[in-house]
Amino acid sequence: MGLDSAAIRRQFPFLHGHGQPVYLDSAASAQKPESVLQAMDTFARHRYANVHRGLYPLSEEATDLFEQSRETVRAFLDARHRDEIVFTKSTTEALNLVARSWGYATLKKGDAVALTVLEHHSAIVPWLQLKEERGIELVWIDIDDQGRLKPGDLTRALQKGNVKLVSVTGLSNVLGVRPALKEIITEAHRAGALVCIDAAQLVGHHAISVRELDCDFLAFSGHKPYGPTGIGVLYAKRELLRGMPPFLGGGMMIREVHRDGFTPADAPQKFEAGTPPIVEAVGLKAALEWINTVGWSDIEAHEAKLMHAAHETLSNIPGVRILGPQKPAEASGCVSFVVEGVHPHDMADLLGQACFCLRAGHHCAQPLHERLGVSASIRLSVALYNTEEEIRSLGPAITRAVKVLAA
Ligand code: ALA
Repeated sequence: MGLDSAAIRRQFPFLHGHGQPVYLDSAASAQKPESVLQAMDTFARHRYANVHRGLYPLSEEATDLFEQSRETVRAFLDARHRDEIVFTKSTTEALNLVARSWGYATLKKGDAVALTVLEHHSAIVPWLQLKEERGIELVWIDIDDQGRLKPGDLTRALQKGNVKLVSVTGLSNVLGVRPALKEIITEAHRAGALVCIDAAQLVGHHAISVRELDCDFLAFSGHKPYGPTGIGVLYAKRELLRGMPPFLGGGMMIREVHRDGFTPADAPQKFEAGTPPIVEAVGLKAALEWINTVGWSDIEAHEAKLMHAAHETLSNIPGVRILGPQKPAEASGCVSFVVEGVHPHDMADLLGQACFCLRAGHHCAQPLHERLGVSASIRLSVALYNTEEEIRSLGPAITRAVKVLAA
């Protein structure tokens, strides 16, 4: 039947205020539907207590809800076991957890981590730190002009025999391209390497089955799939989590603490030191349930139309150059571009004054921008609440801004 766009938009309070801007920055953070805001509000006002600590009914109920959220995430990712889901504060923290816990326990001088040039800084810097501190090697997998990973680069990297992990984005936060995860994982496993997926962008746009992918680690944040900030998720295979040392030390990550030592709790608690993001877990549960209610086929069909409108609009503006895929069907979620003679920051500033929210800069993907031969770009990113009309209305605004800035 297709998506009822008006019905979707009614569910987002953000869209209803007077003079609200056209929000095309959901890759940075998505707006939240009423059901998410209400779930968090009701819990915070009436049912709030700390979790896994209190023996009184209110705390037990809060603990149940918190663990139900873990179950919702498990089902959403199609993971086998609930204890494979670790709550963190963000994708960034989840990826740092992999590097600081698994990486420090496993990697030694001369071992290598393979990365694609598409990666966000969160999937690069933790490994650069290990390079500095441990002497590991980083091997880069290049892209072609369309943003596709160069065939052969991964194979060559794996043939070196020292690659222990491949770190790859599920969906580029700049080009919107989706590396062929299943093929990458199969090839990496054949060579004895694990695979860590940065799913921060992928998670709001396409279904994920960690079981089908057979990935070893996968990270995402709550605020991209219409949920709250302050919560992220690390999925990791059960046997990996069991062998990994704690990342942060503190309350609730231990079994026992004595003056001369401690024994850690089992996963996932071993990785959840301190009071976790409780209200946010309630919000994340509501957000993933909301996505399930809409359904992936309608989400994908609607967003494909938005991407088509974005490409068509941008390609018709003289001086605009779309980076990466030139065909809208080859990207999801976002499209980045540059305008001849115009700095991206100036363009985003003028567009902002005209009530359009777009991000400009290197989008925390500086190696990718270096590879593309530009220092910065402007990014248009879409979500379910956007319409083709909104996107098409950006065209004249960009043309007007070009007239002012390139004059
Ligand atoms: N990582 C987010 C982005 O790409 C914040 O904008």
